[in-house]
Amino acid sequence: MADINFSKIKKSLNSLQWHFDEMLGIKRTEDVYNKIAKGNKYEYLLNYSSRVGFLRKVVKKLDPIPTSVLDLACGTGALIEALPNLHSTRVVGVDISRGMLDIAKKKFRDYPSVKLMKVDFMKASFPKSDFDLISMAYAMRFIPKGKEKDFVHLVSRWLHRNGVFLIINSRRSYGPFFDKIYTKLYKGFNTEIIQEKKMVQFLSPEFYLVKKIPLTRNNFPFITAAYYFKKLQIKKTTKHFITRVRVKTFQAA
Ligand SMILES: C[S@@+](CC[C@H](N)C(=O)[O-])C[C@H]1O[C@@H](n2cnc3c(N)ncnc32)[C@H](O)[C@@H]1O
Repeated sequence: MADINFSKIKKSLNSLQWHFDEMLGIKRTEDVYNKIAKGNKYEYLLNYSSRVGFLRKVVKKLDPIPTSVLDLACGTGALIEALPNLHSTRVVGVDISRGMLDIAKKKFRDYPSVKLMKVDFMKASFPKSDFDLISMAYAMRFIPKGKEKDFVHLVSRWLHRNGVFLIINSRRSYGPFFDKIYTKLYKGFNTEIIQEKKMVQFLSPEFYLVKKIPLTRNNFPFITAAYYFKKLQIKKTTKHFITRVRVKTFQAA
C-alpha cells in the first residue's frame, strides 16, 4: 500500500479552508488572516521563501532604488524582506490582521526604519507625496468593489510625483468561460480589479503602466505578474484646462 503523506493532506486541507473562507466572504478578512497566521500556516502554505525570491527580482528592477516605501497589505512582510538596503530605507507596512503583523514584527525587530501598522489601507492616512514606492503584493482583490476610484486616488496622493506604484497580482485563470463562473462564485472579494485589463483601466485616471514582468515560476492555474505604474503628471495647458500626461519613462533594467 502506498504511504499516506499526512503532512501533504493537512497542507491541502488548510489551503482549501483558507480558499473557501476567502471565497465565500462570510468571515471578515481580518479573521481569515488571523486564523491562517496561527502557527504561521500562511508562510508554510504559500512557500514563503520562494515568494521572497521572486519579489527580490521584482524590486531589483526599480531604478533608482526607493528610499521611502509604503507596503499596502504587507502581511508577514514578504515584500519588505525583498527590499535592498533595508537598514537605510524608511518603510511603512500596513495590514488589517494583527496575527500577520505579529509575524512581520518579529522579523523586523532589528530594523528601526521599518514601521508596521494595523490599519485598513482604505482608512490609512499619510502626508501627500510621502513615498517613492508604494507596493501591493497579492492583495488587489481586497479593494472593496465600488471603491476602486477612492483607492487609486489615495495611492496617487501618497506617492511622490516620480514614484512607482508596484502591484504584484495573482489571479486564477482557466479560460474565459470558467473565469466568468469564478467571478460569479467569488463573493468574498473583488474579482474584477484583479483582471489585468480592468486593473489598468481602474488605475488609468491617475496612473499609466510602464512595465510588466510575468512570473517565471510555473504555478498553474495562477497567472502572476508584477506591474510597474507611474503617475500621470498634470500639465496646465490653458487657464481653464488641465490634462494628465506621461512625462517620464520608467528606467527599469
Ligand atoms: C494574500 S496576503 C498578502 C500578504 C503579503 N503582501 C504577501 O505578499 O505575502 C493578503 C493580506 O492582505 C491583508 N488585507 C486584506 N484586506 C486589507 C485591508 N483592507 N487593509 C489592510 N490589509 C488588508 C490581509 O490581512 C493579508 O495579510
